[in-house]
Amino acid sequence: MNTYKSKRDIIKELQDIGKDILDNKNVKVKMGQLPHTFAKHKILSEYLKRWYPILGSQHDLIYIDGFAGSGIYGDGSLGSPIIAYYLFVTHNKYPNKLSKINAEFLFIEANKDSADTLKFVLAKVDDLLKKKGLKISSNTTYKIYNYKFENKINDIIHNINNREVALFGFIDPYGYTQYDLTTIIELLKYNYSSEILLNFMTGFMNRFMNDESHLDTIKKFLGLNQEEIKDILNAKNPEEKSKKLVKALYIKIYNTFKQSNPNKDIYYQNFTILGNNNNPLYELVHLTKHWKGVEEMKKSMYEASNVAGLKFSDYYYDPEAIPITNFIYPKKSEELDEKAANYIYKILCKGKERVSQKQLELDVITKTPYIWHQNILEILQKEYNVKIVDEKGRETKKAPRKNEKAKESIFILCQTGK
Ligand SMILES: C[S@@+](CC[C@H](N)C(=O)[O-])C[C@H]1O[C@@H](n2cnc3c(N)ncnc32)[C@H](O)[C@@H]1O
Repeated sequence: MNTYKSKRDIIKELQDIGKDILDNKNVKVKMGQLPHTFAKHKILSEYLKRWYPILGSQHDLIYIDGFAGSGIYGDGSLGSPIIAYYLFVTHNKYPNKLSKINAEFLFIEANKDSADTLKFVLAKVDDLLKKKGLKISSNTTYKIYNYKFENKINDIIHNINNREVALFGFIDPYGYTQYDLTTIIELLKYNYSSEILLNFMTGFMNRFMNDESHLDTIKKFLGLNQEEIKDILNAKNPEEKSKKLVKALYIKIYNTFKQSNPNKDIYYQNFTILGNNNNPLYELVHLTKHWKGVEEMKKSMYEASNVAGLKFSDYYYDPEAIPITNFIYPKKSEELDEKAANYIYKILCKGKERVSQKQLELDVITKTPYIWHQNILEILQKEYNVKIVDEKGRETKKAPRKNEKAKESIFILCQTGK
């Protein structure tokens, strides 16, 4: 049985498979990948590696790739459908748990040549895996739909109906006119776990906003009024404009979602992709209904950052860092923990007497760009002299790590310290 222990094995395998496919058939492929595409795939793969075992332990799974592509690039590197499928069947939980649940991979691709190539590449991947002795379960299936996303997705949503599955949608178009936000919201409204990673093309929008007809399309797409669009146009620079566009996107999604799901939470976070002039190209926007999704996605995004913040820039791209491995910024998580402690002390604690450890962890995960580590509490105690007490007010040095219930009765006394 073929399972994979280290990241390097997976990357090497994928490269070898890609080369093998290019050698074997004159597949119609476009150019090689740009560096930022590696970052995009890195985020997707890091997240799916976490998502599969967490959600797959309780539910069947459906992965939808709305703009699937041909599965292979001119340099032999492989596209998102292959990455998603391959990581699933080679996951070290596949031989036991994951092969027993129903897992469907649904790939939508409008271009006939690309859809045909994707079919060929997937068959080739299956052959290569079989040769290596990997048994793919009949519970694991994929389908390729040679359709336009906007003409197929409603059917898919309708067929899923109220099945108890966890959904992950990767929506990766070239522009912003091939889908409608109501579709994205329909996917999120699904009763069980559902989440989306959306490539939101702010670069295109930035570029074309000065043209009246484009501006009108953008206004309609995001449901903006004249004042709001003016505010975006007045942004100081492309990066700020991009931020405002993402915020408008989120507000639109949030408000529409909340109208029919007033009691459900929805979280978002975004990762900025900058081009070789260091201007924004697009934002990878993650939408989820569970804080755990936010936490795991944030970890995945940090694995692809090559500059400060949740960002990747082609401008700072280091050729030595490709393929998708080890271009992480910052190199040490302690740097982020220091920043998180400072943020808690100055912002999250502001005006509060005390805050429970549970609440603090949730706030760090969902309201800051930082990841929660227990080390943050230690920094607060050691460097900020903040006191941490149990429910009886006794000072404690040992805060619980895993016990979620116990975290509710540990408190950070906000007004103590430096
Ligand atoms: C950015 S590429 C996808 C790359 C792929 N997700 C990956 O990461 O390897 C976008 C793809 O969407 C396809 N496409 C364009 N318009 C479409 C539509 N309306 N519906 C579905 N696919 C479409 C294009 O042919 C192209 O292959």
